[in-house]
Amino acid sequence: MKGIVLAGGLGTRLLPLTKITNKHLLPIYNKPMIYYPIQALVNAGIKDIMIVTGGNNAGDFLRLLGNGKEFGLRDISYTYQEGEGGIAEALGLCEHFAEKEKVVVILGDNVIEKNIRAAVEEFEKQPSGAKIMLKKVPEPWHFGVPIMDGEKIVSIEEKPEKPKSPYAVIGIYFYDPRVFEIIPTLKPSRRNELEITDVNNDYIRRGAMRWSELDGWWIDAGSSPDNLARATQMVIRTGANRLD
Ligand code: G1P
Repeated sequence: MKGIVLAGGLGTRLLPLTKITNKHLLPIYNKPMIYYPIQALVNAGIKDIMIVTGGNNAGDFLRLLGNGKEFGLRDISYTYQEGEGGIAEALGLCEHFAEKEKVVVILGDNVIEKNIRAAVEEFEKQPSGAKIMLKKVPEPWHFGVPIMDGEKIVSIEEKPEKPKSPYAVIGIYFYDPRVFEIIPTLKPSRRNELEITDVNNDYIRRGAMRWSELDGWWIDAGSSPDNLARATQMVIRTGANRLD
């Protein structure tokens, strides 16, 4: 399975920190933010990784990460997203890289405590379709929120005012190659982006979506200054995912 790290966007929720650099280059404890999702993929056994960047300072990713030697990688692939087309558009740029293999996608600002190797292995065995990971959170309205019927996800609402479950859809997604047929059919949302939630709802409508609950803590570090600070505190406090 190939891995994709999505690290584009203008990071407007973190202004002025992001006025002169890319959100995913900001520090979490002693490393730039993007180190954590890359390490999460590497820990799960993924060796073939593409990074989609864009916005400010896209060239700095190459300078920072090079061929991924620090992560034990042979090389890293890069591609560039022009403008603010959304997560699904960024993923669409990776079709060529995926070469009809399954992919695991992680958002460049998601920091997790524990290894997702088990979820990767489960998806290897899943014959087709997609898989998402859920986490119970105190404020689900900041995220994609699933509507559940027992164990089944009926649909996902993106940042609903009145969440219908206590879960957030976290920024780790597993897709079969059909994802690259779905993305071109999407219409831009109210915020004028191609939404990953619309991709996931397409799989749900076809009955091809599975899910599992994430073990350990998870922080969407790029969503607010508080969460950025919280990510550093959690890494220091728990020692988990500490990249020494
Ligand atoms: C994105 C997705 C959302 C998901 C979140 C996880 O939101 O649209 O469904 O719950 O990532 O980090 P964003 O933070 O880009 O607004």
